[in-house]
Amino acid sequence: MKMLNLKGRLSLCAEYVREGSRLADIGTDHGYLPIALCQSGRIPSALACDINPLPLESAAKNIAEFGLSDRIKTRLSDGLTEVGADEADDIVIAGMGGELIAAIIENCPWVKDGSKSLILQPMTRHDVLIGRLYENGFSIEKQGAVFDSKKVYTVLCVRYSGEAKSCDTYEATVGRLSPDSEASVAFLNKCLNKLKKQAIGDPSLLPAVEKLKELLS
Ligand SMILES: C[S@@+](CC[C@H](N)C(=O)[O-])C[C@H]1O[C@@H](n2cnc3c(N)ncnc32)[C@H](O)[C@@H]1O
Repeated sequence: MKMLNLKGRLSLCAEYVREGSRLADIGTDHGYLPIALCQSGRIPSALACDINPLPLESAAKNIAEFGLSDRIKTRLSDGLTEVGADEADDIVIAGMGGELIAAIIENCPWVKDGSKSLILQPMTRHDVLIGRLYENGFSIEKQGAVFDSKKVYTVLCVRYSGEAKSCDTYEATVGRLSPDSEASVAFLNKCLNKLKKQAIGDPSLLPAVEKLKELLS
């Protein structure tokens, strides 16, 4: 059987999934993430969930082609609404906007269980997502950045700690990312350029611009 190798965004998401955990992939679309993780033996089983029937059909077809229908179940679900707390240890929500990811998390009370690990890959507004995670008592355990199709994205691995806090623009922009790789530096530079533009109309953002410049110097 051919091996499915993940690249870019999904590859970093896969790296953050704990070995042996049961995965719920929310917004699975093609189902590649659970397929690759089950195929490599990193996880025993997964739920591949999507709000739309068509992507779910394509996931089911791919799962069957890789001979994994006994280990990966597909499920029509808006966010985590149709997933039970006892069905998943690690939850991946990738390829959606930061605001939608935050709404999905806020709509599911059982993710506020310190044993659950959430792996989140926002396509946009990662700062909004980080702000809402902190407000809801989640802590960032790991954060990285990755190049994918000539763009750069961040991936967060978070867990509920119960320590709710508000954060400023700098903290929401940087999260736990440190400029220790080419991708992280590129991501932080992208944030800096965006903040500089916003600061033209909103000088209250200038301290965040200066702090970010310092981090990157
Ligand atoms: C761009 S695809 C991302 C696919 C894959 N996760 C990735 O990162 O490559 C987004 C998927 O999320 C699904 N989606 C959007 N809103 C959703 C929701 N509220 N709950 C579950 N799935 C959702 C869409 O139907 C679509 O299949």
